[in-house]
Amino acid sequence: MLVQDTQESHDSAEWVTCLTYKSIATAAPRASDLDVLASQARARNRSLDVTGMLLFEDGCFLQTLEGPPKAVAQLWSSIERDGRHQHIEVLSEHMTAARLFSDWDLLLDGRSGDMPREAARPSPVPPAVAEHLSRLVELALNTDDLAINTMIAGFAEQGWTSAAILSLLIEPAARALGDAWLNDDCSELDLTIGLSMLQLAGHAVRYSPCSQSIRNSRYRILLATAPGEKHMLGTALLADQFLAAGWQVDMAFPESEEALTNQLNAQHPDAVDIGLSDAMPRQHTIDQLRSTIEHSRMVVSEHPTVISVGGRLFAEATATALSVGADHARKGLAGTSIRLAELVRQNRKG
Ligand SMILES: Cc1cc2nc3c(=O)[nH]c(=O)nc-3n(C[C@H](O)[C@H](O)[C@H](O)COP(=O)(O)O)c2cc1C
Repeated sequence: MLVQDTQESHDSAEWVTCLTYKSIATAAPRASDLDVLASQARARNRSLDVTGMLLFEDGCFLQTLEGPPKAVAQLWSSIERDGRHQHIEVLSEHMTAARLFSDWDLLLDGRSGDMPREAARPSPVPPAVAEHLSRLVELALNTDDLAINTMIAGFAEQGWTSAAILSLLIEPAARALGDAWLNDDCSELDLTIGLSMLQLAGHAVRYSPCSQSIRNSRYRILLATAPGEKHMLGTALLADQFLAAGWQVDMAFPESEEALTNQLNAQHPDAVDIGLSDAMPRQHTIDQLRSTIEHSRMVVSEHPTVISVGGRLFAEATATALSVGADHARKGLAGTSIRLAELVRQNRKG
């Protein structure tokens, strides 16, 4: 581990090690297991002057630890031996003079199907992240594209992972803009401009290279907005992610269901992702989406195509993949190419 290699040369009071990794839970933890883990970790991290965050979503952990190099190395040797998770992958590790987090927090995904319903609760957002988020929303509403680009590019440079930028900043900011419009705090034009600014800034997100086997597969995906959907933030950002993972990407912004099914019929991709708005709840579109998926299945019946859906409706678990007849519903943008590659592989085998 680099943590240990670099500690001698950088072990001064100002410099901290910032380590981000992801891993997969060995067994689905119950809410009470996560609570115990969080309170023990919080106490130990405070005593070691380590800040950061731990996100648990869809059976995966994403953690950032920042603190004195020796303290992070000490913690890391415990964490990497911990049998509660596996397939640990370090996403970034660097020395920095400025911490991103002022405290340590566990961000529970209250929507996880693995957790008992009563345990579902809103994710507590670490104060530092909440501040960045409200600044981002303010900049988007003030149409300050330069400041938004600088902010997102700055986080990418500081080593924020693509998953963290998308799930902690860009997606919540889109939902906050949607709420601002619903509450009459901004015009529809402000909302549209704000979303396109987030979209442009989102292109600064860097995606970690995928394993060679996935890159070589050259799977083909059609990234489409749902027929008539005007908000294309998620679809546009997915394109970056899928291209970085080596997929062949086609995009569609169909005005009608027929336009979408025609494109599917012509292309027969391995997967199609149909995106609703990331800003607005769009509950009233469920029936329409179900019909679009049913018709899409008919046109690709000769060639198995994985059908994925996404948008705020699914991020907030108002609808599920099952309720609209899809094979997959993304709760967020991060990791979609990995999940769909797995489904395409299974589909081809089956
Ligand atoms: C995903 C995950 C993240 C963890 N994060 C922390 C943490 O930030 N701080 C901490 O003290 N322990 C954390 N733990 C628990 C440690 O792995 C370990 O059990 C604990 O620190 C006790 O260390 P020891 O087994 O070396 O005595 C984490 C465990 C898991 C599975």
